[in-house]
Amino acid sequence: MKRTKYTIANWKMNGQKDSYKLVKSISNYCQKMKRKTSKVVICPPFTLLSELIKKEKKMKFGGQDCHYMSEGAYTGSISANMLKSINCEYVILGHSERRTYQKETSQELNLKIQSAINNNLTVIYCIGEKLEEIKKRNTILKKQLSSLPRKIDPKKIIIAYEPVWAIGTGKIPSLNDINKIHEKIRSILSNLVSLSFSKHVSILYGGSVNAANSIDILNLNHVDGALVGGASLKSKEFCKIIDSYR
Ligand code: 13P
Repeated sequence: MKRTKYTIANWKMNGQKDSYKLVKSISNYCQKMKRKTSKVVICPPFTLLSELIKKEKKMKFGGQDCHYMSEGAYTGSISANMLKSINCEYVILGHSERRTYQKETSQELNLKIQSAINNNLTVIYCIGEKLEEIKKRNTILKKQLSSLPRKIDPKKIIIAYEPVWAIGTGKIPSLNDINKIHEKIRSILSNLVSLSFSKHVSILYGGSVNAANSIDILNLNHVDGALVGGASLKSKEFCKIIDSYR
């Protein structure tokens, strides 16, 4: 089964300095690649998004969140149609940092996903267990995946499995575990949505991906790419990750 591979940069609340230079060097690298092995998407903070989209037409960009309403009295929020209006194509939803600090709930995330899809954005939906939840991982993942709408085009959603304990810590699950967990996510999706959806949807791994471990992780048969935090802020390192697919 050929699924689309993605290498996605999540800059989080970083990247103000030299952001254009960083995007330009990644873009140049991608143009020079003989074989395009994955779709590369950059998700900078909102303040940089519009300018970077205008300046670097060859790259794809995403927001790091959106509200579920299209407009209204929601101070500090940005809607899916606002992202679409600046030609943004992707949006990260349900990142563990937002689930923790903004207390995002499954119900709210379901509405956000619907709104993003209605506005023709591709959703990068993050799931993953905390350290103390490892033993009940499957239950946690099932609950988080149940925020997905039941009728959904696998091309409009990307799942990112990010164990919370692996984010920014330098720790990752064993390669065997990563592959097995991705396979499990696929089987949960087959029951929750449909068999065809589960076969076609791309499932990325995120959490301490770097240039030293990316070849091993990105060539596991159930892994369809990476959502990269820290290492996506360094051009050379991120380009090495982009070049990891065999
Ligand atoms: P790190 O790659 O810095 O561990 O972050 C992963 C992440 O949270 C991407 O969304």
